[in-house]
Amino acid sequence: MSTILISGTNRGLGLELTRQYANDGWRVYACCREPAKAPELTSIAAASGGLVTVHALDTSNAEQRQALAAENNSEYEQ
Ligand SMILES: NC(=O)c1ccc[n+]([C@@H]2O[C@H](COP(=O)([O-])OP(=O)(O)OC[C@H]3O[C@@H](n4cnc5c(N)ncnc54)[C@H](OP(=O)(O)O)[C@@H]3O)[C@@H](O)[C@H]2O)c1
Repeated sequence: MSTILISGTNRGLGLELTRQYANDGWRVYACCREPAKAPELTSIAAASGGLVTVHALDTSNAEQRQALAAENNSEYEQ
């Protein structure tokens, strides 16, 4: 399965790319700064059957970038 990480998925191009990649069957790591304030994204993830997962990420925050990478490295190692 093809996989993509997209930032800024709460609105605009990021949200639409998330919708279209999920519709095409991609595994989408959908990132945004405040997932709790992203209802449309949350709905897409809920309806995706696990293809889309939502992650908190401010791309300017090195700690958040590293935490997300570590979280998903462990997912691949399982
Ligand atoms: N729309 C176009 O036609 C077009 C064409 C060519 C290029 N672009 C470029 O493509 C990008 C997206 O366009 P858009 O129209 O979708 O813009 P948009 O509606 O303004 O959305 C920008 C997104 O980026 C997020 N964001 C900003 N700073 C961030 C950070 N530090 N960490 C994580 N997320 C951050 C915003 O999150 P928050 O909601 O939290 O602020 C929002 O989700 C922009 O760089 C734009 O210049 C757009």
